[in-house]
Parts: sequence; structure tokens; C-alpha cells
Amino acid sequence: MELNEVRKRYLDYMRDRGHSVLASAPLVPREDSTTLFTGSGMQPLVPYLLGKEHPKGTRLANAQKCFRANDIDEVGDNRHTTFFEMLGNWSLGSYFKKEQIEQCFLFLTDPNSGLGLNPERLYVSVFAGDKLLNIPRDEESAEVWRQLFTSAGVTAETAHIGSKENGDRRGIKNGERIFFYDADENWWSRSGSPDTMPVGEPGGPDTEVFYDFGDSAADPAYADMKPHPASDSGRFVEIGNSVFMQHIRTKNGFTQLPKKNVDFGGGLERLVAATEDTADIFRIDAFASCISALAERSGIAYDTRPRPFRIVADHLRAAMFIAADGVSPSNTDQGYVLRRLVRSAVYNVQYGLGIADLPLTVLVPSMVSMYADRYPEIAEERVVQTIGDEEERFITTLQKGTKVFDAIAKKGAITGEEMFTLQSTYGFPKELTISLAREKHVSVSSDGYVSAMHRHRESSRQASERKFKGGLADASDMSVKYHTATHLLHQALRDVLGNTVEQRGSNITPERLRFDFSYDRKLTDEEKKQVETVVNDKIQEGLEVRCMDMPLEEARRLGAIGTFEYGDTVRVYCIGEYSKEFCGGPHVGNTADLGSFRITKEESVAAGIRRIKAVLE
Ligand code: ALA
Repeated sequence: MELNEVRKRYLDYMRDRGHSVLASAPLVPREDSTTLFTGSGMQPLVPYLLGKEHPKGTRLANAQKCFRANDIDEVGDNRHTTFFEMLGNWSLGSYFKKEQIEQCFLFLTDPNSGLGLNPERLYVSVFAGDKLLNIPRDEESAEVWRQLFTSAGVTAETAHIGSKENGDRRGIKNGERIFFYDADENWWSRSGSPDTMPVGEPGGPDTEVFYDFGDSAADPAYADMKPHPASDSGRFVEIGNSVFMQHIRTKNGFTQLPKKNVDFGGGLERLVAATEDTADIFRIDAFASCISALAERSGIAYDTRPRPFRIVADHLRAAMFIAADGVSPSNTDQGYVLRRLVRSAVYNVQYGLGIADLPLTVLVPSMVSMYADRYPEIAEERVVQTIGDEEERFITTLQKGTKVFDAIAKKGAITGEEMFTLQSTYGFPKELTISLAREKHVSVSSDGYVSAMHRHRESSRQASERKFKGGLADASDMSVKYHTATHLLHQALRDVLGNTVEQRGSNITPERLRFDFSYDRKLTDEEKKQVETVVNDKIQEGLEVRCMDMPLEEARRLGAIGTFEYGDTVRVYCIGEYSKEFCGGPHVGNTADLGSFRITKEESVAAGIRRIKAVLE
């Protein structure tokens, strides 16, 4: 089926079942928001899920424009996109598990009012329960699924997987179709599993539907088995998720929301791919004309090298929707994301596919014709104008960058640091430096590239953190405390784990801190305890926090940690004699104000990078 057809069927189907169909909220949230973009259908509805009355009633549905910046580097495989539409329906206390699962199954399988998917190809997951949270195994949902499959003539036995990670190598046995998983897979909230949710955040157990694209879609590492649906095999793709949103995070655990809500979300593009039985989401009609224009102009067949095609198609579409929401390219926030999307698309057209003379603006009309009926904003002149202007700027930048490259290349070698400067200052992508260097027989080393990148990221992070603080003076009593606690944690990690620990990222909300750092293995319980104890000791010592501006050399001599700010004079925050760190502030005056520090989660975010979440209580 075509994209517009699937969306229409869904909204008609929900309308027939008494749902008010809402327009999509903007991609860039208009209200104060903790996120740059709307990332799920429920986001604009949070106040109503928390209990506020919705003017359109208790049954709602829509197709919501979503953008997930986190996925930007994943684009290139067969199933990730940055922009997507989420089909959603909500019950604000109107119906619950049975009705939701039944209408979801019917929509997916009924050929007349729904998508007519073969029920044999559907597999589902259900929440296995959690003793600590005191939330039981979701037998009710499992039973509804069992009956639905059985009446469609499909055997549906249940199986327990538990933690997704531990169960990865477990195969599906004959007849199994309903799988119980722990909270790491079958619990949904905007911030993930229960222990990472800030106080006041709604969430709940969920039941997910997966489409089986068959053996050929699976990673060869799983060739010896039929992997379970939530495994990382690639054989199954999640096409719908019904969250039973009835819980809200409190300081000490969870309590019930005023109503038992349903929050359903299904990725439109993935649903279309299922109707087409193609595991490659980029084969659906939404991308077809863009991809065929690229194939024609480059003379490269999509199948032989799909990655650059996918990046161009995804990034162009996303950039158009972001520009349509009124964003202009810039070096911060949404504008920066837009800039990155356009530049990466241009780069992939020119260098990924080797097409020198195909402006992105030529590809715009195919997307406009696909979406203008539903999202007229995408057809506005300023969309093509914004993309065209940014493309020109980038091409000029590339020309300048080429001159700088030539000057550096004359030395006969390019360092990692230079490669990074070419990228950050001249917008000259790393891949381009590498391939030109190869052409010109100049050696290029990536040593120093990563550390230069981290320094740069950190200083932009600090700049935007300062901006954030400035704009939201109050939010921030708690945030300020978390900020000081982050410095204590950073030093404590170095004390306990050694000086290879370096900050790789930090994010603070009034409810928790999140700290990413370099370290190559999981922390033991003992190490986590030690870190907590050190931080709590320092809090109890009532250390004074002082801020000093000093020359960079002086700060280095003092042994200040963290990432250097650019400039001759830098600001260093000292916590007693314990911690000295480059930082723009603000901080509390004395650590005695912090309360008690507790680590709530320790996990891996990337190779060699760990993440800690912690709260002050
Ligand atoms: N809000 C749920 C999700 O994004 C439906 O998966």
C-alpha cells in the first residue's frame, strides 16, 4: 500500500471507532519543551495523559510528525529514519487493554478496513511484570492476544524471555507467538525504563507488535535460529506499540494516574513497509521518486550501494519538514540540526553518489507532491528557498575548504586535529579529507581527531548549558544542585576508577543528572557504592564552592579537569580542595545544600563510554 493510503485507512478506522482525529502538532514544540523536536505522538498530549480534560473528548487519534535527532547517525541501514510519522490513538480513561489490543489486531489484519497483514507474520511482546515495582505480569493482554490469534487460525503459545539482553540467543520454538519481556523492553515512557523516569513522568507497561520479514532479513549472525522478536536480528521490525499508561513516577516509586490511559504509536513508514513485505523502509513509495532520480543521475543502482541514497532521501525529507516549521539553518539547536541534514544530503549527492550537478532543490518537488495534501506547509516557497540557500552556502564553504585543504596537504601529511578543524571551521567533511588525501597521496592520521571533537563538543555544550540556565533562572535551583553534584561525581569516578575517566557528556534536568564518561567496562556494585560514598562524604563535609577566572596555563597547572574552554582566560570552579573543573557555572555555594546522592542507573551508551544517572534526595 501507499503511504497516504495507510495513513488514511488508519485515521478513518479510528474515526469509525469514535476517535476525534487531531491535526499533527508542529515538529518544533511551541510550548517550553525539554526537547528540540516532537519525538512521539504522545508528547503534545502529556497534560491530558496526566489528567487534564481534552476538549475533543476521551478518544483521540492522529498522525504526528516526529523527528529523532538521536537516530541521525543510524540512517543508512534499512530501517532508521530521522523524520517519520507516528500513527497514534489514545484513550483517556475510555477503553483499556482488551479493546485496544482487539482494535489494533483488526486494523493490522483486516483487508477491508485495515492493512490486511497476514496474522502468521505478526508476533507480540507483553510485560513480564516487575516485583520491585509491584506491577504484575500482564496476563490479561497475553490472553487477549492468544484468543485473537487462535480465532484467526494461528497457534499462539506464550514464552518467557525476561531481559532482552540476556535472551538474545534464545530462539523461537514452534507455536510460540506471545513473548514476555522485562521492563527493559516492555515498559514505555519518554525517558525509557522505570528507573530512569523523572518524578512526575507518566509511563506504563506496553505490548508491542512485530512484523516478521523472514529469514532473509536477519543478520547472518542469527542464521542458525529463528530469533525472538525483540532481538537485534533485524528479522522482526516493531510496527506498533500500545502503552498502558496508568502509572506516574513519584519520589519513592510509582503511583496510579487518575485514569487508565492507552497510548498507541505505530511508525507509518514501517507499517507501509510491512504491507509491501519489504524489510527496506526506503523502498516504500514516499522515497521512490527521490531514489530513482538519484539512480538515474548517478548511474548507480540503488541495490549496489543503498547507503548514500538512503541518507539523501531521509535527510532531504526531514530538512523540508523542519524548514516548513519555520526553522532557519544556524549553528545552534534546531537550526544546527537543519544545517547538518542539508549539508550531509549535499555531500552524499556529490561525493557519495558522484553527482556534481544535481541541486537538492531539484529533488524537492517529488517530496512536496507526496506530502502537500496533508501537510501544506511543506509546499511553501520558503522551504525550497531555505534548502537552496543552505546548499549554496555549503558549496561555497566546500570551495574555501578545498583551498585550506590544499594548503595543509602541501606539508605532505594531515593530522587528526587538522582534519577536525577542516570539518568544524570549514564545514569540510572528514570523509572528504580522507578521500582527497588518498587521491593526492598525502598521509592522513586520525590521531587527535576524537579528542579535538570532544573538546569542541564540550565547549558548545557548556555554551548552550549557560544559555539554558540564563533563560530559565528558576528551574534551576534543582538543576544547579545537580550541576554541582556532577562535578563531585566526575572527581569521585576518577578517584575510584582512575584518571582514564573523562567526561564525554552531561545532561541535567531538575529531576536527575546524567553523566557520560570514558571507561571500558561495566562498573561493579562495589564500585558504584564507593562512588556514592565519596560523593556523599563530600556533601557532608560542607565544602565551599568557589569560582575563579584565571589564565588557561594557570588552570592547567592547578590540575583542573574537564574540557578546556576556548580563550585566554578560563573559569574554574573549585569545590573545597576536592574538585577543580573548567566550567561556566552556576553552582551552589556549599555542598551541604545537595542532600543525599544516589546512582539510579549505570549503563553503556557506546563502545568505551558509560552513562550514569543519579538523583539527589
Ligand atoms: N508513545 C509510544 C511510543 O512512542 C506509543 O512508542
